[in-house]
Amino acid sequence: MGSVQYQYAIIWFALGVTLIVPLLIFIRYNVNVDKTKPVDNSNIVLLSSEETLGKIITRENNLGWNILDEETCQAKDNFVLKKILPLNVPIYIYNPNEDVHISRMIFNSGTWETPLVDKVVEAMKLHPEAVFIDIGANIGMYSMTMAALGYRVIAVDCNIENVMRLCASARKANVTNKMSIIHNGISDKRSVLRLIKSTEPNVGGMGVEQISSTSNITHNLTANAILLDDLLEIFPIKSAIIKMDVEKHEDEILKGAKIFFEKVKVETVLLEFRFHAKDETGKFIIDFFDKYGLAPDLSKLVNASDYSTWPGDLIWSRKK
Ligand SMILES: *[C@@H]1O[C@H](CO)[C@@H](O)[C@H](O)[C@H]1NC(C)=O
Ligand SMILES: *[C@@H]1O[C@H](CO)[C@@H](O)[C@H](O)[C@H]1NC(C)=O
Ligand SMILES: *[C@@H]1O[C@H](CO)[C@@H](O)[C@H](O)[C@H]1NC(C)=O
Ligand SMILES: *[C@@H]1O[C@H](CO)[C@@H](O)[C@H](O)[C@H]1NC(C)=O
Repeated sequence: MGSVQYQYAIIWFALGVTLIVPLLIFIRYNVNVDKTKPVDNSNIVLLSSEETLGKIITRENNLGWNILDEETCQAKDNFVLKKILPLNVPIYIYNPNEDVHISRMIFNSGTWETPLVDKVVEAMKLHPEAVFIDIGANIGMYSMTMAALGYRVIAVDCNIENVMRLCASARKANVTNKMSIIHNGISDKRSVLRLIKSTEPNVGGMGVEQISSTSNITHNLTANAILLDDLLEIFPIKSAIIKMDVEKHEDEILKGAKIFFEKVKVETVLLEFRFHAKDETGKFIIDFFDKYGLAPDLSKLVNASDYSTWPGDLIWSRKK
């Protein structure tokens, strides 16, 4: 009898190993990456679109959406108040010596990327019902202009210092009823991003890299990354105009945006293409937009069949 029990024990042990080892391997490879398709929001905290107006909200991996403390929207002593042209909209910028491109330009001239801002304004005029989604909003040159013109804006930035300024600006300019501000990165998977400061005093030159979904958000140089698809958890977006300026990360955003592009009628995208023109990510971006009916607005001066000749900033619109 004893030896029979012993044999059973071995069988049970072998069975246990065959079942548990694959399970552990499965867990090992799935914990770090939050499975995202289809969007499952059954267990996370949601907000209504209305509740987010004039607020900074954030989506924490696995928990859901929450509104940041009231204090994050109040202007701080080191915020510099200027006005942006042509509407004279008040905006909080950085000390121009600490942010030598965007803030300094706005400080000196009240403008930043005027020709591109104008193109987005033109697109909004054609589609006033569209939501303007500003990915990599920075301190809000585009977002504040669109909100001041009365368009609905969702501004996204992974740098807390940027979104704090933007929220204070929205209040100062009385456009809180037009703007929701999201403190997250947007990427191809829900994860944690490390923010990498530019070597020059240039807040807008901040890059990002994915760490994992299990690291702690310990200081203000990390941020939770979400998917563009996740915006649909709270915002009932029917049509959108998107600006994307995220320092080489544009293709990764699109990889997490398939549901978004299937459900939302994206009318126009302004995308910083310069980092992708000499890279295979350029091909990915072109194919992605093509699939969803968007074509680049190319001048006759560039070779349409050689994307390495395409300009650094590109507008994509719905094919006629
Ligand atoms: C702010 O905007 C609201 C409507 O959006 C308007 O009713 C209100 O008078 C404005 N307040 C100021 C101080 O301009
Ligand atoms: C995350 O933070 C918790 C509490 O501060 C700490 O116990 C844990 O070790 C941290 N984990 C990592 C990966 O740093
Ligand atoms: C972010 O970190 C920097 C450097 O540690 C600090 O000067 C700044 O006040 C922090 N900002 C916030 C909003 O915590
Ligand atoms: C445009 O690019 C294609 C593909 O690289 C090339 O075959 C063609 O010669 C180019 N045309 C001109 C006018 O340079």
